[in-house]
Amino acid sequence: MILFGCLMASVGGVIFLNHLIWDSMRPRPIPTPQVPIGLSSLSARECGACHQDIYSEWLESRMGNSMQNAAFLMDWKAKGELPYCLSCHAPLEAQQPEILHGVVWPLPMVLSRDPNPLFDPDLRSEGVTCVVCHVRDGAVVTAKQVHAPHPTHVGALGEVCARCHQMPTSPLHPLRRPLIDTWGEHANWKDKTGQSEDCVACHMPRTERNGGAGHSHRFPGGWDPVVVNASVALSVPTYEGDHWVVELTNLTGHRFPTGETTVSAELRFVGLDEKGQPLATETTPIGRHVMGPPFIDIDDSSLLEGETRAFRAQFSNDPQRRIRTVRVEVWKLRYFFEPELRKTIAPQDAEALVATAESKP
Ligand code: HEC
Ligand code: HEC
Ligand code: HEC
Ligand code: HEC
Ligand code: HEC
Repeated sequence: MILFGCLMASVGGVIFLNHLIWDSMRPRPIPTPQVPIGLSSLSARECGACHQDIYSEWLESRMGNSMQNAAFLMDWKAKGELPYCLSCHAPLEAQQPEILHGVVWPLPMVLSRDPNPLFDPDLRSEGVTCVVCHVRDGAVVTAKQVHAPHPTHVGALGEVCARCHQMPTSPLHPLRRPLIDTWGEHANWKDKTGQSEDCVACHMPRTERNGGAGHSHRFPGGWDPVVVNASVALSVPTYEGDHWVVELTNLTGHRFPTGETTVSAELRFVGLDEKGQPLATETTPIGRHVMGPPFIDIDDSSLLEGETRAFRAQFSNDPQRRIRTVRVEVWKLRYFFEPELRKTIAPQDAEALVATAESKP
């Protein structure tokens, strides 16, 4: 009787855990939309036949390369090509080689899965392709009324970003906030600052094309020089009796840094002698450090939405006071804690100088 009770309890425990894991694997793939009347496929090449400029912009974008990108492919392989990752990196059902039904066993995880007869490998290689954002119910979603050779309906296109730039909270991970939290941070930013720009305003800037103005489908982001230069503002550093101080303001529409937690930033005080030669450097990290899975927060010093924060440096190892001026630098670093992934990217994509300021002589 006792043995039977224990058995039932452990079966119940496994079922419960399987539910938790399955539930944490959100978002799920998007049902493949119907091909709109007048078009012959869902491929970006099809759209690109008429929208040529947009197609070439998107080809250069990170979302257009989300299934080509060496860093993603390496990380995905290392995680046993977990189907869950495709829910954002190649999200349509037709982009999934397998259909998942649930979790059979928690550790090591065994999924109940069947081959997907409608899998289209070419479409998968397109990653976050045009129809992911633009096609619903057999029609192309547009921001305004137009006359087109395909059915259209007007919709809130700017809202589509939420699905992938925000992860759900999961009871499995004792995290203080979701692993990717950009949409939520952005909502806080609007509340705190009263500003109304959306993701599109900053990440799809107005661009001139042959056929008239539009919104850039290069989706410039955290590694685009123009966007990066608009990230933060630095005050002129000053000397306050026994220490240097500088103020850093977050100008983005979310926290700085945001997004996946492999990206981090740091502020460096470089102490200079009277000839302007560097003598010493003091560094403070700015970012969120998470470990796992199962994920736990180690530290979170990312700049809050709209925040201005003071940073100080004492240079206590400079007793003779040879430091006359300081230069402050803000850097962004990629894959700080993942040296393997760091090898997959070009040096200019591994770190970027975001801002710099020098004290008055
Ligand atoms: C046969 C040519 C053709 C194909 C193929 C085509 N479009 Fe269009 N599309 C047009 C034309 C023409 C218009 C209306 C004029 C304009 O705004 O460019 C239009 C309008 C649009 C608009 C609204 C433009 C605006 O100014 O707001 C969107 C969005 C759009 N198409 C997306 C797509 C997507 C996504 C695909 C692929 C699934 C696609 N189109 C395939 C020709 C085409
Ligand atoms: C279907 C999921 C999905 C949707 C919807 C989506 N994104 Fe993305 N986005 C991604 C993924 C995945 C990446 C990273 C691709 C990579 O680097 O391999 C990304 C990357 C980006 C980047 C590049 C960041 C950088 O540092 O360069 C920007 C900017 C961006 N997205 C903005 C947007 C905006 C704006 C919207 C809404 C209009 C949007 N995204 C909608 C999945 C999505
Ligand atoms: C007021 C302008 C502004 C708004 C609004 C805004 N962003 Fe950003 N975003 C920036 C700037 C500037 C950067 C570069 C600094 C950084 O990397 O954090 C950036 C960086 C990013 C990155 C790159 C992260 C990385 O380091 O690779 C992503 C992804 C992103 N934004 C997504 C979004 C999404 C999604 C929205 C809407 C929910 C949004 N942003 C709203 C200005 C904005
Ligand atoms: C990550 C989501 C996303 C993807 C992927 C995407 N678009 Fe868009 N697209 C948008 C948004 C958002 C707008 C509307 C901007 C606005 O007017 O607010 C837009 C606008 C457009 C327009 C109107 C003209 C303009 O520049 O504003 C056309 C046409 C269009 N997209 C076609 C395409 C084609 C073709 C592809 C693939 C090559 C594509 N889009 C991929 C989100 C996306
Ligand atoms: C909820 C959507 C979502 C899921 C699920 C997801 N990602 Fe991502 N991933 C993103 C977004 C959005 C970005 C880029 C923008 C940012 O910094 O937030 C990204 C970026 C990345 C990058 C960095 C790419 C680069 O160019 O720097 C890697 C690597 C990555 N993801 C791996 C994975 C792996 C492996 C999985 C599965 C375990 C996964 N992702 C699941 C949304 C997702």
